Amino acid sequence: MNKVGIGKIGFYTPPFYLDMTDLAHARGDEPAKYTIGIGQDQMAVTPISQDIVSMAVNAGLQIINDEDRSKIDLVIVGTESAFDASKSSAVYVHELLNIQPHARSFEIKHACYAATAGLQMAKDYVTLHPDRKALVIGTDVARYGLATGGEVTQGAGAMALLVSADPTILILEKDSAYTTKDIMDFWRPVYSEYAMVDGKYSNEQYLSFFNTVWNLYKEKTNRSIADIKAFSFHLPYTKMGKKALQEVLPEADDAKQKALSAIFEESLAFNRLVGNIYTGSLYLNLLSLLENGKGLKAGDRIGLFSYGSGAVGEFFTGLIAEDFKKGLASDKYTELLAKRQQVTVAEYEAMFTQNLPEDGSALTIDTANDSSACRLVEVKDHKRSYIVK
Ligand code: COA
Repeated sequence: MNKVGIGKIGFYTPPFYLDMTDLAHARGDEPAKYTIGIGQDQMAVTPISQDIVSMAVNAGLQIINDEDRSKIDLVIVGTESAFDASKSSAVYVHELLNIQPHARSFEIKHACYAATAGLQMAKDYVTLHPDRKALVIGTDVARYGLATGGEVTQGAGAMALLVSADPTILILEKDSAYTTKDIMDFWRPVYSEYAMVDGKYSNEQYLSFFNTVWNLYKEKTNRSIADIKAFSFHLPYTKMGKKALQEVLPEADDAKQKALSAIFEESLAFNRLVGNIYTGSLYLNLLSLLENGKGLKAGDRIGLFSYGSGAVGEFFTGLIAEDFKKGLASDKYTELLAKRQQVTVAEYEAMFTQNLPEDGSALTIDTANDSSACRLVEVKDHKRSYIVK
């Protein structure tokens, strides 16, 4: 059987960020609540020139080359920030990334779980067709509203995963444990611009789903915590992952507990700077782990927990591939984060409340402050137009 998994990882976040200490001061909260209690230092802020399509394309452009373009058969976009209830964002992404025409392109919705559903489908497809590839992208803007309880857990960005045989970065293992249960912890009716969330209940359910699928995984595989080099979590905010890790640490001896805690802290670097990117959050944490985790080597097993409110949880594992560092676009991630511009709370609020026309009128978008490769440039007759430079 061919080894199949993640060959390349692309990451995009908009060119602006807000410091969480500034937000805490503006909202009358202690900064430590945001930086320690929630575990976030900065939050991505989205200009009107970026949406789920442009962000997905920017993440894809970071990794795909002409050979990939000719071999990609599946373009799967996971999102819970869709601007169209019918037309799939994957079709725009397919066109703007110039993927070969005879591909399947579709969008998946399942809260923050959709990219994982796409990744597992892509893995199965490439296992059957090892000479072909699949592109899976999670792209979202997390919006709870100004001065709401969830505001501190906003963010935006996209993660692009190129799935192939003999992957350079992570070999996905066959065994996986998953569960579905109909609950109301987080949802967004189509008439609402903002997510609705029962925050405390959502946290409890996240942990409960994690325990369920972790125990199921151990039963299915006869593996234990000793077999896991590092955990990677869906991170709506980094404290959430810390709480999940604490659920399983007592299963490990002291040395293993220390090692798992240390590498988990190292893995948080990128998530602390970007915030919640919903479908992409787990994969941003995986990328951050691979970039910042110390002592990782080929063959190490990474345990990944994906959670999508509503809800589905899945625990699966991957083995780090030989030369995984060579597969990462490290310079590009560093440059992307370093070039971001800090905004004030007033500037963030102005960007947050800027809306596109909804009456069919035309708007040409000023993109002077956004040098991203792909940008939304016009809305006219209810249609969006993009450029790729
Ligand atoms: N210094 C350090 N920590 C502080 C603090 C201070 N001055 N003040 C508060 N804290 C801690 C609290 O003890 C708490 O920690 P704990 O969770 O370990 O107990 C944490 O900060 C958050 O405080 P809390 O009062 O619970 O915050 P909140 O009522 O504003 O709600 C969320 C926080 C996360 C529930 C809310 O932001 C939310 O609903 N976010 C969206 C939820 C979400 O993303 N769900 C999806 C899960 S997939």
